[in-house]
Amino acid sequence: MATQRIAELLRSGQPDETVTVQGWVRTKRELKDFAFVEVNDGSSMANLQVVLSPDIPDYANLVKQLNTGTSLEVSGTLVASPAKGQRIELKASTLKVYGEANPETYPLQKKRHSFEFLREIGHLRARTNTLGAVFRVRNACATAIHEFFQERGFLWVHTPIITSSDCEGAGEMFAVTSLDLKNVPVTESKDIDYSKDFFGKPAYLTVSGQLEAEVMAMAFSNVYTFGPTFRAENSNTSRHLAEFWMVEPEMAFCDLQGDMDLAEAFLKHIFKYVLEKCSEDMEFFNQRIDNTVLATADNIINNQFERLPYTEAIKLLEKADKQFEYPVSWGLDLQSEHERYLAEDLFKKPVIVTDYPVGIKAFYMRLNDDDKTVAAMDILAPKIGEIIGGSQREERLEVLERRLKAQGLDVENYWWYLDLRRFGTVPHAGFGLGFERLVQFMTGMQNIRDVIPFPRAPLTIEF
Ligand code: 4AD
Ligand code: MG
Repeated sequence: MATQRIAELLRSGQPDETVTVQGWVRTKRELKDFAFVEVNDGSSMANLQVVLSPDIPDYANLVKQLNTGTSLEVSGTLVASPAKGQRIELKASTLKVYGEANPETYPLQKKRHSFEFLREIGHLRARTNTLGAVFRVRNACATAIHEFFQERGFLWVHTPIITSSDCEGAGEMFAVTSLDLKNVPVTESKDIDYSKDFFGKPAYLTVSGQLEAEVMAMAFSNVYTFGPTFRAENSNTSRHLAEFWMVEPEMAFCDLQGDMDLAEAFLKHIFKYVLEKCSEDMEFFNQRIDNTVLATADNIINNQFERLPYTEAIKLLEKADKQFEYPVSWGLDLQSEHERYLAEDLFKKPVIVTDYPVGIKAFYMRLNDDDKTVAAMDILAPKIGEIIGGSQREERLEVLERRLKAQGLDVENYWWYLDLRRFGTVPHAGFGLGFERLVQFMTGMQNIRDVIPFPRAPLTIEF
């Protein structure tokens, strides 16, 4: 008989149905004449309560094995539950243990564990309530993202992980090489001889799929890429990872206004979808992790985001009745504390800051007519700060060449990117959503390392 998922049974299982489930024991309670076992298979936060009575074969021996973490398969009949807390439970007729988990050595026990401790057992933490809920919500966010773009006719394109160009021009890239690091070939001038390396030139893990997404947008009009990106920045914060996922739409024939409109509709769609599909998990976050999570979701869905030029944002920050650690003045980048002040304290909702000074933004952003600012937009979220970064792109060849040079980048390296401006150039725009920051924002989880199954951060790569 095919096995059933516990979420489905809890939702629509009926008394007298015979079913088989497979999963892991969360808790066991032994009474004199029977035992209760809570079984979880990851399909929902709620467990299925299984009732074992001594008439099942090998009862005493089996019950002994059913400690937290033990894997099993159980068949039986659903019955209406006489106790509070669940609608139905499973009266077992047969039970098979796949693998025991010794309570002396199994690190997960019924008590609450700290997230720091759970990070040390990254291979087991997905079996906890909180991480289980996080990864279900993460899955729902990803599904919502595809649904949003597919419904609007965007083509999902797959941009490369290994690249030879630095999209952000910030030099925060991990090198990819097959050279023997103990015996690196050098040129006459004692530089590394990359002609001997795998690709014949320096290669890196990508920091963003944007440049390649622009290539595809110049053929398909509206595209998006969704994949892992890598940053070798030594930021040990609760909002930075060395490997994180990014969603990057790119639209031809689109300006900054259209870019912001899409980004706002996009976030609203994801929140709506997750509230609907993961209501149990979202309730859990609201109760146990951050009691503003549901109000925040409601706020995102129902309120227009604030839109505000950088220059205005600076004025507001200068007037703020708050001591900031970092200086505020026109021309300086906003720090996380400034971003949070705007979104959290001042507007109490997401704020889209636009038109940043040219000096603090990437080379590809379109220069505004004032020659001082670029058509950039960052969406700042309460508690998280920057969650989306985007811009209208510079579509004018000469301006783009000038910007590349001004930033000290090698124009030769970007020849194909410049070709897009030589052949059928169009105004276009796009943005990048930090996927883990979204999941953090959605769930209220404090640390970004707890919303990705296998976090990579400085000195962190065990699992
Ligand atoms: O603002 P960023 O650097 O923008 C880009 O990479 C553009 N190429 C995107 C585009 O226009 N297509 O990064 C985009 C988002 C940020 O807003 C932030 O949410 C997230 O990526 N992000 C990080 N998330 C986790 N850890 C890090 N180290 C991150 N760096 C950026
Ligand atoms: Mg940014």
